Amino acid sequence: MPERWSAEDLPDLGGRRIVVTGGNSGLGFEAARALARKAARLTLACRDLGKAHAARERLLAESPGADVALLELDLADLSSVRKAAETFRAGTDALHVLLNNAGIMAIPRRETADGFEMQLGTNHLGHFALTGLLIELLLATPGSRVVNVSSTAHRIGRMHWDDLQLERSYTKWGAYAQSKLANLLFTHELQRRLTERGADTIAVAAHPGYAATNLQFADARMRGSSAGERLWHAINGLFAQSAEMGALPLLRAAAAPGVRGGDYFGPDRLAESRGHPVKVGSSRRSRDAADAARLWQVSEQLTGVRFDALAG
Ligand SMILES: NC(=O)c1ccc[n+]([C@@H]2O[C@H](COP(=O)([O-])OP(=O)(O)OC[C@H]3O[C@@H](n4cnc5c(N)ncnc54)[C@H](OP(=O)(O)O)[C@@H]3O)[C@@H](O)[C@H]2O)c1
Repeated sequence: MPERWSAEDLPDLGGRRIVVTGGNSGLGFEAARALARKAARLTLACRDLGKAHAARERLLAESPGADVALLELDLADLSSVRKAAETFRAGTDALHVLLNNAGIMAIPRRETADGFEMQLGTNHLGHFALTGLLIELLLATPGSRVVNVSSTAHRIGRMHWDDLQLERSYTKWGAYAQSKLANLLFTHELQRRLTERGADTIAVAAHPGYAATNLQFADARMRGSSAGERLWHAINGLFAQSAEMGALPLLRAAAAPGVRGGDYFGPDRLAESRGHPVKVGSSRRSRDAADAARLWQVSEQLTGVRFDALAG
């Protein structure tokens, strides 16, 4: 692998079917752009089809002839997740990469349609359910990958087992960090189960460092705070790398050769906040096998989605 890996190093992806959740914005869009250039067959799974259409137009303007399908998916509503998985399964017999990228960060406490705390519900539980509903397709596709997008914020996260929905102890950053820790615990437990089954599919993770996207503005927009928006513009301008750079660890995890189950990619510089993607470490908590197993069990209970195809 080259020292400074870039999207140019991706192999040709002709014929490979890749689903990107949140593919209309930020890192998901930039990942889709790079994957389209390598001829992947893309599905942008988005909650707002208007934004998804606009994203497809932008992709086609740059890569005419790109294969870009759209799928309506609201991760904060399990009925939408079920419908999206059903629709997707009906239209294809392969899934090479499921890029679980969509997310929200540090917003005031809200709940999903199913009553989950919004950040855990969207960032982890929605993706857990989507993955479970697509696992048979993934298992049936040689060399397939599930890529979960975490964050350096996982390091300050802990699982609040006695108050998982943070009804008593909500802080917006605590909720985000818990959800991003959950992304890594899910990755490790999924990989453990895939290995146990002798599956060809692998589970990997990536984080973008700090990249300027819409993510930073969600909280200020929900609160109607234009001062908050201006502040984030200023901070992003000073410290963030581009979304294009931030997407590189996701792309490497999703489609570079030589990636192994459980690998975690992030930027190589300034405490993993920017740079080119390399393998990175994660917190001790994120590698706690008992917590990973516990989260799996709780996630199955909460979502009602079981990975039956992995059971035996
Ligand atoms: N940017 C960073 O510095 C950074 C750092 C660490 C980790 N991350 C992670 O990177 C991932 C991508 O974030 P980003 O920075 O690219 O942010 P972004 O530009 O805000 O994109 C987030 C995407 O997620 C979608 N989304 C949010 N809620 C959803 C839901 N309920 N159902 C379906 N889609 C939903 C958004 O849809 P709408 O466009 O409709 O809102 C958007 O497409 C997230 O998992 C985030 O935690 C980002």
